[in-house]
Amino acid sequence: MNSVESCRRAGEMLARAEAVVVLTGAGISTESGIPDFRSPGGLWDRYDPTKLTFDRFCASAETRRDYWRLATETYPLLTRAEPNPAHLAVAAIEASGRLLKLVTQNIDGLHQRAGNSEQRTVEIHGSSLKAHCIDCGRPHDRAELHRRLLAGEIAVPECEACGGRVKPSTISFGQAMPEKETAEAFDAARDCDLMIVVGSSLQVYPAAALPDEAVRSGASLVIVNREPTPKDENATVIVRGSAAETMSLILKHAGDISAGFKAAADPMLR
Ligand code: APR
Ligand code: ZN
Repeated sequence: MNSVESCRRAGEMLARAEAVVVLTGAGISTESGIPDFRSPGGLWDRYDPTKLTFDRFCASAETRRDYWRLATETYPLLTRAEPNPAHLAVAAIEASGRLLKLVTQNIDGLHQRAGNSEQRTVEIHGSSLKAHCIDCGRPHDRAELHRRLLAGEIAVPECEACGGRVKPSTISFGQAMPEKETAEAFDAARDCDLMIVVGSSLQVYPAAALPDEAVRSGASLVIVNREPTPKDENATVIVRGSAAETMSLILKHAGDISAGFKAAADPMLR
């Protein structure tokens, strides 16, 4: 089935669905200028994730320095990025009243800037736009930390309250998953009638188990991704290609939903 035919079928499934869960990964944001992790040239080509685990962050000031160096490199990419048509398509699904939950593995906040609501958005890997002390929990202003890191005032942020270890509010390898968000994501996967995965290699658990949970509970599964994923065999429809282009095409075939999407995204689709 070619990509246009797959988009048409996925659009018709979306138009008929009543409780949609959208699961996104870094691939939905690459067309906004934010590199993903596992594509050639992605972040894990340039940084060794085994050196940036939570245990190593907690144990060594040197790891914290490396961690904050990566965070300082990527933070401007996040704040300068704009939502692309794929993000706007996901926002249009919520605007149509069909979205049960948006579960994102991304830490860039682009879904909320595209129009998805906080209450329907689950950031299962946290957010890089926030920071907090892992020793006392005190929140810290991420933009102010970035300014001070760039100005060379600090190299490894320390907590202004207890002098403890400050970290971007993302979930690192080896760090406990956020209980509330993880439970919300799995409850939604069990209750949806359609799950659409956009831009994820579906290699990192527990998020990668969400499509299995949805299919086990009777939902249809659409996977939109440039490359094959380990979950493709469970998908009702697989859409290969750019998230921005394919999600725009899917929404065009999604009946009434496309009206809301068209208005929002058209200037970007020229
Ligand atoms: N359109 C469609 N697919 C794309 C695009 C695009 N423009 N750009 C990239 N992709 C695909 C890639 O082919 C890849 O399969 O998106 C997928 C991104 O996969 P990863 O880089 O592994 O990102 P993700 O699945 O979100 O990783 C999950 O791993 O490192 C951790 O915490 C990190 O949240 C992240 C988690
Ligand atoms: Zn503290």
